[in-house]
Amino acid sequence: MATPSWIEIDRFLNGLFAPSDPVLEAVLNHSAAAGLPPHNVSPTQGRLLALLARTVEARRILEIGTLGGYSTIWLARALPDEGRLVTLEVEPRHAEAARANFARAGISDRIDLRLGPALDQLAQLHAEGSGPFDLVFIDADKVNNPHYLDGALKLTRRGGLIVADNVVRGGSVADADAADPSTSGVRAYLARLAAHPRLSATAIQTVGEKGHDGFAIALVTADP
Ligand code: SAH
Ligand code: DHB
Ligand code: MG
Repeated sequence: MATPSWIEIDRFLNGLFAPSDPVLEAVLNHSAAAGLPPHNVSPTQGRLLALLARTVEARRILEIGTLGGYSTIWLARALPDEGRLVTLEVEPRHAEAARANFARAGISDRIDLRLGPALDQLAQLHAEGSGPFDLVFIDADKVNNPHYLDGALKLTRRGGLIVADNVVRGGSVADADAADPSTSGVRAYLARLAAHPRLSATAIQTVGEKGHDGFAIALVTADP
C-alpha cells in the first residue's frame, strides 16, 4: 500500500476530531476572500489549542497574532460562559476581517481585539493590571518571540500554559547559521524556554496540511 500523504492523513484525522463545521469553513472562506494569507492553524491544531485551554480550565486567554481569528475561535469556544479572550493584531485589515468572523461565530462578546503592535499592547495589558491569563498563544511576528515570552511570563498564572506556533519552520530551526531573523527569533525563544526557571517546556514537530512545523508548549511553574 502506498504511504498516505500528510494531507490525506490530516483529512482523515479532521473527519474524526474536527468534523465539518460551517462556521469555521465560512471564517476561512471570508479570510481568503479578504486577501489574508493562509497562515491560520490547521483544524487538528485548533482542536489541540482548545484541548489545552480546557485542560487548564482557562477562563482568560491571551493570543498574540489574530489574523482572521481562526485560532481565536477555537480557543474562545473552549472558554466557559464568563470566559474572556484578548487577542492582539497589528494589521487593521486583519483585525477588520477577524471582527466580522467573530460575529459570524457568535463569540464577539467574549473577545477583546486590540489593534496595534503586540509589544505595546503587552506593556499596556501589564500597566492595566490585566490577567493573570491561564493560556497565552504566541503566533505573530517570530522575530519578537523572545520579547513575547517576557510579556507572557508577566501575565500568566502558575499552572498556566504558554504555547507558541511555528517553532520548526520546515526544519530551519535546527540550522544554527540561519540568516533569517524569524528563525533566529524562534531559536532564541526555544533556548529561553528550555532554560527558564519558571517554565517546564517542550517542543514537538507537526506535519500535515500546514507542512512541517511545530508547537512549543510551556507550563508556568511559579507565579509572576
Ligand atoms: N493565530 C492565527 C494566525 C496568525 S498569523 C491563526 O492561527 O488563525 C500572524 C498574525 O500576526 C498576522 O495577522 C500578523 O499581521 C500579526 N502580526 C505580525 N506582527 C505583529 C505585531 N508586531 N503585533 C501584532 N500582530 C502582529
Ligand atoms: C507564517 C506565520 C504563521 O503564524 C504561520 O502559522 C504560518 C506562516 C508566516 O509568517 O509565514
Ligand atoms: Mg502560526
